[in-house]
Amino acid sequence: MNKNSLQESSPEHIPVMVHEVLELLITDRDGIYLDGTVGLGGHATHILNTLSASGRLIGLDRDEKALAICNERLSHSCAFSCLHASYDLFPKILQSEKISVVNGILLDLGLSSFQLDSPSRGFAFKTDGDLDMRFDTSAGQTAANLIASTPEKALADILYNYGEERLSRRIARAIKKMDSMNTVADLNEAVRRSTPPNHRRKSLARVFQALRIAVNEELTRLQHFLNSFIDYLAPHGRIVVLSYHSLEDRMVKHSFKDLAKNKLVSIITKKPLPPTQKEQTENSRARSAKLRAAERI
Ligand SMILES: C[S@@+](CC[C@H](N)C(=O)[O-])C[C@H]1O[C@@H](n2cnc3c(N)ncnc32)[C@H](O)[C@@H]1O
Repeated sequence: MNKNSLQESSPEHIPVMVHEVLELLITDRDGIYLDGTVGLGGHATHILNTLSASGRLIGLDRDEKALAICNERLSHSCAFSCLHASYDLFPKILQSEKISVVNGILLDLGLSSFQLDSPSRGFAFKTDGDLDMRFDTSAGQTAANLIASTPEKALADILYNYGEERLSRRIARAIKKMDSMNTVADLNEAVRRSTPPNHRRKSLARVFQALRIAVNEELTRLQHFLNSFIDYLAPHGRIVVLSYHSLEDRMVKHSFKDLAKNKLVSIITKKPLPPTQKEQTENSRARSAKLRAAERI
């Protein structure tokens, strides 16, 4: 078995801040819950273990490969169903399931270790592969296509706005100058040519984050969700969001503040909760997590 198939056949992802998520999300063990980013079902497993026999959990994800694994792991539970959909389109899903409101919604944003470690997905600068970066590989343009169809200045804006990369113009110029831009190695080479060695790893992380956000329209989808979720939360229902970079966290913070001003929610986490020191030591990918929660009034 080669390295690629080995990594893709034994997928793992350690769910982040499980204890805090369960404490904050579940107020009624008989209730209906939505996991908008169910992934491999890490949080979903714990949620299902906490719900009573009459509780229900609906899981959504844009990644069909992750969903297939999740379904295999959790389909034994009658309380669970999962669907291939973007979480911002959840009202349609609830409508089709004849559900008007839910008792809790969880969003665990970003990407899973399963995706990050899959060489064929192109999410990580450390692993060579095609420059794809789509969560949903059945639709939309790949990172390679996005780069090819985006003019240099607009590409620099993506790197600056979504990656907060200060060398965005230099990097965009180097990317557009490359003869070929189809693989992770091509993108790494463009960043190598345009950044000083001492800042390169951070630049690479920011460039990959920015392109992933653009490819998957992550901030547009999050904003769309934040504009509408309140209408589908039952009174005392909870929203819990785990975010992994400041752009997402800021959007969640402002949304909760606006809803609180209009007396629609009370904010439970006045400041975002970080993972415990122990969790940060045990799971390096949890380090940047910030959890915010609010309750429907
Ligand atoms: C951090 S992982 C979730 C891991 C999951 N909580 C677990 O414990 O296994 C984030 C997941 O969100 C999915 N995702 C990203 N954007 C999405 C969207 N707009 N709608 C649905 N799923 C999305 C990704 O495909 C990925 O599987």
